[in-house]
Amino acid sequence: MQIVKVGLLGLGTVGGGTATVLLDNAEEIARRTGRKIVVDMAATLDPGRTRELGLTQTRVTTNAQEVVSDKACQIVIELIGGYEPARTLVLQAVANGKHIVTANKALIATHGQEIFEAAQKKGVIVAYEAAVAGGIPIIKAIREGLSANRIQWVAGIINGTGNFILTEMRDKGRSFDDALKEAQALGYAEADPAFDVEGTDAAHKLTILAAISFGIPLQFEACYTEGISKVQQEDVAHAEELGYRIKHLGVARRTDNGIEMRVHPTLIPEKRLIANVNGVMNAVLVMAEAAGPTLYYGAGAGAKPTASAVVADIIDVIRKLNMASSLANRIPISGFQGDGVSDIPVLPMAEIETSYYLRMLAADRAGVMADVTAILGESGISIEAMIQKDPADERQAKIIMLTHRVKEQQMNQAIKEIEALGSISGEVTRIRMEPLA
Ligand code: HSE
Repeated sequence: MQIVKVGLLGLGTVGGGTATVLLDNAEEIARRTGRKIVVDMAATLDPGRTRELGLTQTRVTTNAQEVVSDKACQIVIELIGGYEPARTLVLQAVANGKHIVTANKALIATHGQEIFEAAQKKGVIVAYEAAVAGGIPIIKAIREGLSANRIQWVAGIINGTGNFILTEMRDKGRSFDDALKEAQALGYAEADPAFDVEGTDAAHKLTILAAISFGIPLQFEACYTEGISKVQQEDVAHAEELGYRIKHLGVARRTDNGIEMRVHPTLIPEKRLIANVNGVMNAVLVMAEAAGPTLYYGAGAGAKPTASAVVADIIDVIRKLNMASSLANRIPISGFQGDGVSDIPVLPMAEIETSYYLRMLAADRAGVMADVTAILGESGISIEAMIQKDPADERQAKIIMLTHRVKEQQMNQAIKEIEALGSISGEVTRIRMEPLA
């Protein structure tokens, strides 16, 4: 299998996550690309980090210039963050004919025009999926998935730290400062947390979303930016009483007069799905003329979610560039290379394992519940919760149970036995449960 060599700038949270995902998922990535991606060189101020991450074959340097001018590395992955030296290094890498993958929203929002123009002149790709909403592939969704549409507006919870703080204030009545301290301890916050709480980080991301949604230049300075530092606990409570949630929203909208681009605390009706996006999670709602509203939800920060986007961009660059040789190799129709298609079988339903909600009508007399639970026990089915509802008819009781996970075939057998009990009337209602977590 052919090798594609990449150079990493930075082995911090996202750099470390990227190395981990490349190593852990190497086989799956090769099935998708038909290429082996090798981290050939890494720049870090802590050279011991390569050993920690298992990058045993990687040349390591403390001088990032060496990576951007290295002959072997075809793609430079900038994960240093901030404006400088990231801007200079990326421009140098472009000048050296390297393709760029970056997670740096500040860099793209403020110097994107300059970088894109340089890349265009040089004929190299700049990919920046990880710059907005971490693990959510929102750039791809807007730029490719929704490319048939005229996009009307985009509204997003695009700063996890801010959302975490607002959620803690609402759910636990915590103070702003207290919640911020925890977000910092959890590693969500920017190096300068003012970027999170004053809205700069969200404005960087919104600038990028607006540019790709409406086809306008990146213009961070035109984005209205108001943070959440003035949101009081009592406002959160009042909003709640009125049926609203306060969210820190980035809104970009196309109007007859121009483009709105604004980041500020916003009351949203609590019944909207996006109002229920809590904690450090991000979500972006896109209103597109043909597709209608579509909502994208996921982790907006963190090592592995962000690395997921970085690595997807590396794969994208490889596919686009025909580093995968034939047309069929660029983006395989099924998503996997021909020889990467697996013959792993689809499981029959009897083999599927879930937890269950069960409802049954039982004669309201001693020993009935014991019969039911004995059948479940003998079938190896553990009960998580059980309630008995007031009988509609005095001689019968409605029993509702939640079970732990069990194979469908065990549940089928148990239900058959329960339904055969003289004390149970009719069929047992069964609904499979999914935690979706
Ligand atoms: N500080 C950012 C956030 C990290 O909290 O969303 C991801 O960009």
